[in-house]
Amino acid sequence: MSENELSGEVYYPSKQIVKKAHAKCEKIYEEASTNLEEFWAKEAKNLHWFKKWTKTLDDSNKPFYKWFVGGKTNIAYNCLDVHCETFRRNKIAMIWEGENGDLRALSYFAMKRETCRFANVLKSLGVKKGDRVTIYMGRIPELAIAMLACARIGAIHSVVYGGFSVEALHERLEDSQSKVLIVADGAYQRGKIVELKKIADEALQRAATVESVLVVKRTGHGVNMEAGRDMWYHELMNLPIANNSCSVEIMDAEDPLFLLYTSGTTGKPKAILHTHGGYMVGTYTTLKYVFDIHEEDRYWCAADPGWITGHSYIVYGPMLNGATSFLYEGAPTHPYPNRWWQMIEKYGINILYTAPTAIRGLMRYGDAWPNRHNLSSLRMLGTVGEPINPEAWRWYHKVIGKEKCPIMDTWWQTETGMFMITPMPCTPLKPGSGTKPFPGLVMDIVDEDGNSVKPNEEGYLVIKTPWPAMLRTIYNDPDRYVNQYWSRFPGMYLTGDSARRDEDGYFWVIGRVDDVIKVSGYRLGTAEIESALVSHPAVAEAAAIGLPHDVKGNAIHTYVILRSGFVGSDKLIEELRQHVGHEVGPIAKPETIEIVDSLPKTRSGKIMRRVLKAKALGHDPGNLSTLEE
Ligand code: WT7
Repeated sequence: MSENELSGEVYYPSKQIVKKAHAKCEKIYEEASTNLEEFWAKEAKNLHWFKKWTKTLDDSNKPFYKWFVGGKTNIAYNCLDVHCETFRRNKIAMIWEGENGDLRALSYFAMKRETCRFANVLKSLGVKKGDRVTIYMGRIPELAIAMLACARIGAIHSVVYGGFSVEALHERLEDSQSKVLIVADGAYQRGKIVELKKIADEALQRAATVESVLVVKRTGHGVNMEAGRDMWYHELMNLPIANNSCSVEIMDAEDPLFLLYTSGTTGKPKAILHTHGGYMVGTYTTLKYVFDIHEEDRYWCAADPGWITGHSYIVYGPMLNGATSFLYEGAPTHPYPNRWWQMIEKYGINILYTAPTAIRGLMRYGDAWPNRHNLSSLRMLGTVGEPINPEAWRWYHKVIGKEKCPIMDTWWQTETGMFMITPMPCTPLKPGSGTKPFPGLVMDIVDEDGNSVKPNEEGYLVIKTPWPAMLRTIYNDPDRYVNQYWSRFPGMYLTGDSARRDEDGYFWVIGRVDDVIKVSGYRLGTAEIESALVSHPAVAEAAAIGLPHDVKGNAIHTYVILRSGFVGSDKLIEELRQHVGHEVGPIAKPETIEIVDSLPKTRSGKIMRRVLKAKALGHDPGNLSTLEE
């Protein structure tokens, strides 16, 4: 790279970082762009296949791409069994700290054993290849064990984030037609107990397909166990059936691995489907190159396993790489704002991957908290979830990374499964930019007609090449898959984001252009918040928008029209906030609820959120020709 010519605020990587890196940058960018299929095939060969694929990429039925066609593998086998054949058998796969100070460390051997035992439990309950299993827990090792156990026997897991609540869980159980729910009694958060089992009980009253509920005892605070349906995980794991060995299901590369629900433009959250083969190769390769994982590293992705970040980069990616992954149960500031820094020092963490909202949140407490700790083990830092403001980037770089750790600002999505726009250890960085697409990927920014825009012009962010970890479809809704992602611009995958590219070819993601709000990096649809509001007897109509917020990135602001007979009051507003929290989850609680007499709508009756947003920000609402009144 011609270093001197980059414009703006640029941070060059140190010689040590570049020298240590697995990724010999220029070489792999070149290899991947010369022959994309060969690049991925070469990476796939580092993993175990029961039978080698015959075709790396099959694009004969676009946009239903297939990768590693004819290949037979199993991602859980690659995460565990493969390492147990080597010295890694004794390496720590996962170090865990509970918010209350509980500790656990599981070697690869132990992880495999627990996974096999639990896989046998699932089998004994009749779970078979292709069955859906929902998992609803806090950040505890059993979450990873449950995921891996499903993968081992070919069941499709659907993890529901532990911060979601009754209706969100119910919807996901129902849509996935799950046979089994694996839940924890509760989770520790900020010194309090989140009563997950209680929430699940309520969701189960509305869900018909679940036959068995397996309960992991985390808090021991006492829960209701329904006879014939609910069973304790630890009791089942002590039965003879929970044998230490469990044969692995040989999966087709294209067989489903998991569903993960995410919010889209309209209506209900959609189930994104990922597969064993391509997803495995994509997460393995991107994590290895971008975070430059080495054998001796201790790596910490501070996201939640309930989101794609956790699936790809707490569980699968690190285990495929034989890495040591750290998992922390609780809040970053509990009991004091030094909790994270204390754990980095205590465990000697080398790589920290988190979200801008967490960085901004911790930054507010000042430099003294991190400065009390020795953070010199850190070598690489990362961020994901939303654009990072340069101020937070500089703080992270200086105060946490001591100006020696490059920051990997990774842009990707639930749908992409793996990093898409991301630096590599050798990439010169610009605060706020994810830099460039991962080797071999062609991404672009286009105008309304699908033509590339000029440098520094804003447009739609699109992807023009297939990639192995790409979603395969929306579960049970292939039409929606085609419409949502591949119809706006033929031959291009629509990300839903707007972006610009500077004169150096660096991408700058601006934000969502659809009805998705990113709150603290979490993705929520306006439709979900609105439908939670109108499910309250007092509400006739509701509209939700996102407005900028210093820590959360965006905060939810809502407008409601009351049903006749109801009068607005502070008490009612608080009740509505709690109601949204109860139905969707605490993250969805609106910042403000304003009671109004009418909402701006198009003649066809669609709420014009853009107008509400412009008004709230004091901007010009723009073209109002479609406004009804
Ligand atoms: C949306 C996808 C949390 C894991 C990945 C998120 C936004 C994600 C970045 C980034 C700017 C980002 C985009 C994207 N986003 N990473 N580095 N810079 N924006 O998965 O929940 O499916 O959300 O997150 O808007 O479309 P997700």
